[in-house]
Amino acid sequence: MQNFAITRTALFAGLTCGLLLFIVVATNGCGGRSNADNEILIGEYSSLTGTTATFGTSTHNGLMLAVEEANAAGGVLGKKLKLLTEDDQSKPEEAASAVTKLINRDQVKGIIGEVASSRSLAAGPICQSNGVPMISPSSTNPRVTQVGDYIFRVCFLDPFQGEVIARFAFNSLKVKRVAILKDVKNDYSVGLAQFFGTKFKEYGGEIVAEQAYSEGDNDFKAQLTALKAANPDAIMVPGYYTEAALIVKQARDLHITIPFIGGDGWDSAKLLEIGGTAMENTYYSNHYATSDPNPVIQNFVTKYRAAHKETPDALAALGYDAGRIMIDAIQRAGSTDGAKIRDAIAATRSFPGVTGAINIDNERNARKSAVIIAIQSGQLTLKERIEPPSPVQ
Ligand code: PHE
Repeated sequence: MQNFAITRTALFAGLTCGLLLFIVVATNGCGGRSNADNEILIGEYSSLTGTTATFGTSTHNGLMLAVEEANAAGGVLGKKLKLLTEDDQSKPEEAASAVTKLINRDQVKGIIGEVASSRSLAAGPICQSNGVPMISPSSTNPRVTQVGDYIFRVCFLDPFQGEVIARFAFNSLKVKRVAILKDVKNDYSVGLAQFFGTKFKEYGGEIVAEQAYSEGDNDFKAQLTALKAANPDAIMVPGYYTEAALIVKQARDLHITIPFIGGDGWDSAKLLEIGGTAMENTYYSNHYATSDPNPVIQNFVTKYRAAHKETPDALAALGYDAGRIMIDAIQRAGSTDGAKIRDAIAATRSFPGVTGAINIDNERNARKSAVIIAIQSGQLTLKERIEPPSPVQ
């Protein structure tokens, strides 16, 4: 009797488990990624780990905020939005496979990513050939959106960023002789070095030396010694924060006290954490400044701080803007059809982004202002704001 009772209980438990398992598998599919009729799936590929982990994490946090706000306001087309995020580990080849999964396995309707131009260039062609609209929040290399008509971005481009840095260096820092140390494996870094150099020479400056490194390197003394020998007034490092901070730190150890200048790739709380006081007398261009009194910016900063207990960097702000533009486009498209969403993104005009008004031009780019940040007494200070050359009609 006792035995029978146990058997019955075990049988019941087994059946219940089986049934539960069946329900879980049936509703969630592989990996718990449901595609229920009452949800619209948005994909994100992002560097949540690896050499640029803060880029992906901040972007994800900003994007989540946009999705949560839209869902709290009732969702889109009568459905809730669901964000599916794939970590690409800061690697281009992983970015390509992440996007393939999001499209083939999850059948997402739109994709947000990536931050780094090299990774957007690796995954963009997959979005294009599958007809899934992609919005890069922050890839600034011109080639990113040239991949095709499904690929957009909501940030400025490197020809503009290069000019902004060159103008600041020549007119405000008043340096004439600049040396460049670039990451040769990084499309963004190579491009920005070139755009900066061309403009700086046009202004009347001189590029006195150039040296190279590759992402992941951690000893830059040989390159810095070679650059020092050319006697520059400033050194430009168009790379990402991990290497940029180490470069400046090692330069100070070599008694190189001149200003260092960089681009948006420096934007991370890790820059000051790694570089410390060596970062004094450095400057970089960026997409927005949290010290800007503009109420749109201050509202976002307050909301983000409440949710994440930290100050949003430009990646968080651009992730939020990219998400809101995707959601707004789906709403205006009135459909989750890829071509219709693509056309709605292309028609985005005067969108009130945290990083400025966003107009998508004929080349699927945004033209926006840039800021120059100075690191002074361990603080990020807004130095200058530079408007784009011409607004989109
Ligand atoms: N613009 C950089 C690129 O294209 C990425 C980046 C954007 C990094 C904004 C930091 C802040 O690779």
